[in-house]
Amino acid sequence: MPGEASIDRVARWLAEARSVVVLTGAGVSAESGLTTFRDPEEGLWSKYDPMDLATIEAFERDPELVTRWYHWRFTKARDVRPNPGHDALALLERTLCARMPDNPPPFTLITQNIDGLHQRAGSRRVVEIHGSIHRWRCTCTGYEKPLSEIRFDRFPVPSEHGGFMRPCVVWFGEMLPQEALEASFEALARCDLFFSIGTSATVYPAAGFIEVARAAGARTVEINKDPTANSPSVDVTLKGRSGAILPDLVHQMDQLARGGDARDT
Ligand code: OAD
Repeated sequence: MPGEASIDRVARWLAEARSVVVLTGAGVSAESGLTTFRDPEEGLWSKYDPMDLATIEAFERDPELVTRWYHWRFTKARDVRPNPGHDALALLERTLCARMPDNPPPFTLITQNIDGLHQRAGSRRVVEIHGSIHRWRCTCTGYEKPLSEIRFDRFPVPSEHGGFMRPCVVWFGEMLPQEALEASFEALARCDLFFSIGTSATVYPAAGFIEVARAAGARTVEINKDPTANSPSVDVTLKGRSGAILPDLVHQMDQLARGGDARDT
């Protein structure tokens, strides 16, 4: 509609959508207090070299350092809370699933985040393409031990099978979990609305998901406080903090679905 504000347009697209895919990155957790990777001053990769911390070679070279670093990140993730952006995405999932209870699922949340905050906010269908820091496995057998049974009192943490415990996260050079990749591409192939939220869109294959969605005919939206590699090509950019924009957007979609004008409220 001519003159329609961007957020109104996206709210209308959400109200019309049959299948929504959301890709999230570290920016969505920033307002919970977790540091992103590529912020020029505070970002983790501005302070640390990923080749020293996030590769299997780094772990083999210095398992104590890598385990301590991931244990530190695990405690940070455990000790913060989901923010209004996470909450809004969980509400969006509930709303779309209630509106379209049939199969296939109308909403898929693909996250590059390993912090588990989407699940804690109540999101149910979460595809963790970079794994989770809340799961750890033995380097020898792959056996995943429940977190409650792992004692982080020695670094690296020995496993009962002669190896060490490592986080079930994807390190540079490692394959993404096959099941998560398949679930992602299956959802992307049938989506009609795609969101890229709080990610710099620099790490593949996630950075290429927008193209897969576009090839499937989806409208594309970016929510980010800064421009990204996706910005020039998306249909709409909503510039700002995801913790502010997402609650507003979901509220406006809800108003439209109820037959009101979102701006009346
Ligand atoms: P980045 O740190 O690369 O990007 C975070 C993006 O979020 C940036 O574009 C910020 O401008 C934006 N941002 C920050 N705060 C925001 C806010 N409150 N609201 C909206 N946007 C905000 O993080 P990712 O794109 O997630 O992989 O990084 C992708 C992958 O690179 C990570 O999963 C990790 C990393 O190396 C592995 O470790 C394998």
